[in-house]
Amino acid sequence: MDSIIVEESGPLYGKIAIAGAKNACLTLMPATLLSDEPLTLTNAPRLSDIGTMSLLLQSLGVEVESLNGGLVLALSSHALKTTRADYEIVRKMRASNLVLGPLLARAGEAIVSLPGGCAIGARPMDLHISALRALGAEIELKDGYLHAQTPNKGRLVGSEYKLKFASVGATENFVMAACLAKGRSQLKNAAMEPEIVDLVTCLKSMGANISGEGTDTITIRGVDKLNGTTHSVIMDRIELGTYMLAPVIAGGEVELIGGKMEFLEAFCGKLTEAGVEISKTTNGLKVKRKLDTINSVDVKTAVYPGFPTDLQAQMMALMCTSNGVSKLEEAIFENRFMHAPELMRMGAQIDVQGGTAVVKGVSKLKGAQVMATDLRASVSLILAGLAAQGQTKVSRVYHLDRGYEKLVEKLKNVGANVERVK
Ligand code: UD1
Repeated sequence: MDSIIVEESGPLYGKIAIAGAKNACLTLMPATLLSDEPLTLTNAPRLSDIGTMSLLLQSLGVEVESLNGGLVLALSSHALKTTRADYEIVRKMRASNLVLGPLLARAGEAIVSLPGGCAIGARPMDLHISALRALGAEIELKDGYLHAQTPNKGRLVGSEYKLKFASVGATENFVMAACLAKGRSQLKNAAMEPEIVDLVTCLKSMGANISGEGTDTITIRGVDKLNGTTHSVIMDRIELGTYMLAPVIAGGEVELIGGKMEFLEAFCGKLTEAGVEISKTTNGLKVKRKLDTINSVDVKTAVYPGFPTDLQAQMMALMCTSNGVSKLEEAIFENRFMHAPELMRMGAQIDVQGGTAVVKGVSKLKGAQVMATDLRASVSLILAGLAAQGQTKVSRVYHLDRGYEKLVEKLKNVGANVERVK
């Protein structure tokens, strides 16, 4: 199994290009199930999660062609061969549940394995199920699989539904399913993430009639059929936020090509408070810290446009090196501090009590052997390693391959001392 070795690095100078968004691509790919015409996605990220979604779609009969080194995905669902999403693939990635809504809408039935447990929390499917039931779906749980079908195997029926919590995945499943439902649907307390707006932009160019995306109320007027299209995936705001932290932790100044502040306002606000200078450039953003020290700031994760839970671990790595005490509250997932004990192996001072971590900055972290536990936790250890004295060895880096393409290459290009080893 590969590991990544990080030596104290910096200052970092140069450019990092931001890839297409993993979380947008993972919901755009299943959208192909809604049409028998081809869907082409450009600016796709080259990640193992995208490979997993390709395998899942192929198992359903979707033709998936990866072109231009993986940057372009040509998908065609003209002939589906099954509506069963098997446990063996679904268990690898929770986003597999995003085939549920589109399969149901297109084929009138879907049998989708429950995604199972996940390191960062229980992540049940209740919100997805209730939202699809509101559209007339009959859903039962049998042998670990959700067995869903439309009324009399016909079309779903448009209706109004309010989510108990603004779940990203449940919003995506509802919107995709409602595109082909009979009549008007409306989702209240919908999630507002930019990846959902990207999905809706693509669905509209496939002929869907949707309004209100990006607000908490999305209205969908069902159509009989969707057509094919070509769509460019938006940039990955979580990859952007992660690399913005590299020169903040290690010093220097890095330009993030393709980076935009507008999708990360809460995060950028906290960085500014911490003493970071963020400026727009012709091609993206430039980031550097203003002073030698980083101010401690308090952070509470929230649904968009709040501070993203997917950047909490990375922010904790930064706060480990701040000049004071900061409080990090995790309000989206119940078990998302697994990076804390690993950071403590590097000399960080962190006290976790339930959903709150109190981090006391130390003057210097120390390199150590640490273990990646999930995608964002693992990258927080790499960031911390940049500022730690000596060598940090991060094992189980397959977690990183799920969400960061060419991580070592991108960091090396700005001068970081990082190597991947067998
Ligand atoms: C998506 C993102 C993930 C991000 C998360 C929150 C993708 C592929 N993944 O995940 O990177 O961390 O949004 O921004 O886009 N919940 C329930 N019942 C449900 C569904 C969710 O209780 O039926 C809970 C979850 O356990 C979790 C919270 O709601 O505590 C947020 O989950 P949700 O917004 O659905 O996240 P995902 O779509 O799974």
